[in-house]
Amino acid sequence: MHVLITGGAGFIGSHLVERMLAEGNTVHVVDDLSTGKATNLAPFLEHPRFRFCEADIVTWDGISAAAQWSDRIYHLAAVVGVRRVLEDPIQVLATNIAGTERLLRAVVTGGWRPRIIIASSSEAYGFAQDEAFNEQNDLVFRAGGQTRWAYAVTKLVDEHLAHAFFKKRELPVTTVRLFNTVGPRQLGRYGMVLPNFVKQAVRGVPITVFGDGLQTRSFCDVRDTVCMLDELGRSEAAVGEIVNVGDDKEISIKDLAALVRERAGSQSPIKLVSYVEAYGESFEDVTHRRPDLTKLRSLITYSPKRSLAETIDDLIRIERTGLGQSASK
Ligand SMILES: NC(=O)c1ccc[n+]([C@@H]2O[C@H](COP(=O)([O-])OP(=O)(O)OC[C@H]3O[C@@H](n4cnc5c(N)ncnc54)[C@H](O)[C@@H]3O)[C@@H](O)[C@H]2O)c1
Repeated sequence: MHVLITGGAGFIGSHLVERMLAEGNTVHVVDDLSTGKATNLAPFLEHPRFRFCEADIVTWDGISAAAQWSDRIYHLAAVVGVRRVLEDPIQVLATNIAGTERLLRAVVTGGWRPRIIIASSSEAYGFAQDEAFNEQNDLVFRAGGQTRWAYAVTKLVDEHLAHAFFKKRELPVTTVRLFNTVGPRQLGRYGMVLPNFVKQAVRGVPITVFGDGLQTRSFCDVRDTVCMLDELGRSEAAVGEIVNVGDDKEISIKDLAALVRERAGSQSPIKLVSYVEAYGESFEDVTHRRPDLTKLRSLITYSPKRSLAETIDDLIRIERTGLGQSASK
C-alpha cells in the first residue's frame, strides 16, 4: 500500500512512518520541519520504501501527484502547541485550514479515492464540561474570540471540510479527535506538559505546574495511538465519522508531576505557576478532558497497552541518555 503522511517528521507522524514501513507499505512524507525534526526521519532515509519531501503543505507543488499515488493518507501537518498558538494565531489559522482544504481538493481533482484520516483534536470540544467527551456532545466556545481558541477553531473547520468532502465528493474520510498523546520524540518547547516535567525532574529543578494543577487530562502513548490510527484506516465503518482517539484514564496535572518525580527518583519541588506568569496573558484552561471511547471501541479491536508509568519511564531513560551524551561532548 502507498501511504502519504503529511507532518510525518513530527512527533506522532514519525511513529506512524515507523509502523507503516514495518507493515511493508511504501511511505511518502511531506513536512516543512517547522516543529518536526529531520532527525525523526533519519532512521528511514535510506529505506527503499521511504521518500521525504521538505515542503509546506500549503504551497507544495507535489501535492496532486502525491494524492493520486496514495492508497491511504494521514493528514497530520498543522501548527500545534499552546505557545505557538498564542504567539502566532494568524499562522495557525492559515496553515491548518488552508492545508486541509488544499489536500482534500487535490484528492478530488485527481479523481482517486484514497482512504483519508484527518487529525483533529480534543480541543474541538472547547469548554464542554461533560464528564467524558462524546462525539455527539455539543461543542462549547466562549464568546469574544480568545486567542487560545484559534487552534481549536481550525480543527473544527477541518472537521467540517472533511465532512463536506465526504458528503459532497464521496471522499472516504475519517476525522480523529486526538486526546493528549505522549511518548518519545515529543517536544516540550511548544507547551506540551509531559516532556517538560520529565526534563525538570531529571535535572532536579522545580517541576512547574500551570494553574492550580487540579485540571485533569487523559494521556495515551503514541505507540498505541498509531496502532489505533492504522486500524481506523482499515475500517470501512469509520468512513465519514468523527472518532475520539486516546486513552480514557484520567490524572490531574499535579498528580502527573508527582508521578514523574517519583519515577525519576527526583527531589524536584513541585511549583505552581499562574497562567499569566506562564503565558504572559490570562488563559482559560479546561478543567478536565477525558474521551468517551465507545465509538472507537465499536470500530476497532486495539486498545492501549502501555501504562502512563511505563511511558514516563521510557521518557526518563531517553532524557538521561541525552543528558549523558551532551555531558560527555
Ligand atoms: N500530540 C497531541 O497530543 C495531539 C493532540 C491532538 C491533536 N494532535 C494533532 O496531531 C497532529 C500531529 O501533532 P504532533 O503532536 O505530532 O505535533 P508535531 O508538531 O510534532 O507534528 C506536526 C508536524 O507538521 C509539520 N508541519 C507544520 N506545518 C506544516 C506545513 N505548513 N507544511 C508541512 N508540514 C507542516 C511540522 O513540522 C510537524 O512535523 C497535528 O495535526 C495535531 O494538531 C496532536
